[in-house]
Amino acid sequence: MASANDVLFEPLKVGNLNLRNRIVMAPMSRHRSAMSGVPTDLNVEYYRQRASAGLLITEGTSPSPLGQAYLFTPGLHTEEHAAGWRRVADAVHGEGGAIFVQLMHAGRISDTLLLNGEAPVAPSAVAPPLNEPYSSPWPKVKRAYPTPRELSHQDVLKTIDEYRASAVLAQKAGIDGVEIHAAAGYLPMQFLSTNANLRTDEWGGSIERRSAFLLAVVDAIAAATSPGFVSVKVSPGWTFNQVEDTDPVGTYSYLVRELSKRSIAYLHVGNYGMDWDVYGTLRPLFDGPMIVNAGFHRAAAAAMIGAGGADLTAFGQHYIANPDLVERYRNDWDVSRPQLATYYTQGYDGYTDYPVYAESDPATRQGADLPVNPIMPE
Ligand SMILES: Cc1cc2nc3c(=O)[nH]c(=O)nc-3n(C[C@H](O)[C@H](O)[C@H](O)COP(=O)(O)O)c2cc1C
Repeated sequence: MASANDVLFEPLKVGNLNLRNRIVMAPMSRHRSAMSGVPTDLNVEYYRQRASAGLLITEGTSPSPLGQAYLFTPGLHTEEHAAGWRRVADAVHGEGGAIFVQLMHAGRISDTLLLNGEAPVAPSAVAPPLNEPYSSPWPKVKRAYPTPRELSHQDVLKTIDEYRASAVLAQKAGIDGVEIHAAAGYLPMQFLSTNANLRTDEWGGSIERRSAFLLAVVDAIAAATSPGFVSVKVSPGWTFNQVEDTDPVGTYSYLVRELSKRSIAYLHVGNYGMDWDVYGTLRPLFDGPMIVNAGFHRAAAAAMIGAGGADLTAFGQHYIANPDLVERYRNDWDVSRPQLATYYTQGYDGYTDYPVYAESDPATRQGADLPVNPIMPE
């Protein structure tokens, strides 16, 4: 019998790929790569387990030696990194899946301790204030951020070129595309924001100039690979990592119109609790596949896609605990709840040891049409 959830299982052409369903694994940092940033056997297994998603988007991965935000997060700026990502890509493709690597440059959300003593870089020499209002599950700030070094014009061009080189490495490694992380207050969003970007040159000031860095990154990658190889994630208006935008509707309306002209693979929009209609405002401005994310469960995702409000839905925390989320949604099986305490710990515990439905403990499960309800740590 036809059901409202069937839209989730319809194939879709996205960029250079034919995705087998509309269910996307949201990018999630899990801090389990090698210190060097090379993906490990455990990472290969984690992504392989989840390969029945229409598309996997990896955890934030630095395109630059200056881009790392946290310990044990991966990179993609050396041949060793690329060799590690090739193993991930091969494992996912072996299961018939598709995978984009999320390129995440932390900018000022880094520390000299992670950068061999060098200062983090940013559009302007403005440190994020330490009045971090967010608590678990996000990584906690342990000490004040250092004041970042303002990127010179030449440094900006070099950083754009690092993204290009990283995307080329990804392509050579057999990865299907890259997603530019322009959300959550990391470097591209620092450029977009009015409190982190105080520049008066061509990279700051007006909405057009604050958008120029991200658009230049997209153009550089598209020229070196193909427009369908690049995509962008934004979180309009979100103040995570202490960024502010005096006019998010204006900024993102302009930005999304510009992205629409570029035939990128998709636009990924996170609505992190904004009090305005983020998806409804941006959807008509983008002529291409749109992914929506944050707080979705099966019924909400199907309703959104069924009503034409989006083409795909990304699920984050549901994917932590449900490697077979697609099969659970298709068969109307319950989903398992994730354990918040192991989101960012080490090893397989809370990472690759979440079982498929048949082997899961009924006490850890809930209905597929309920919001994710993580078990809070003490
Ligand atoms: C453990 C964890 C790590 C995350 N890391 C990233 C990241 O590296 N890049 C990113 O764009 N979003 C990251 N996010 C945000 C998720 O992509 C997603 O937006 C969030 O979990 C909300 O979706 P959900 O309600 O389906 O979980 C992370 C979220 C979690 C829970």
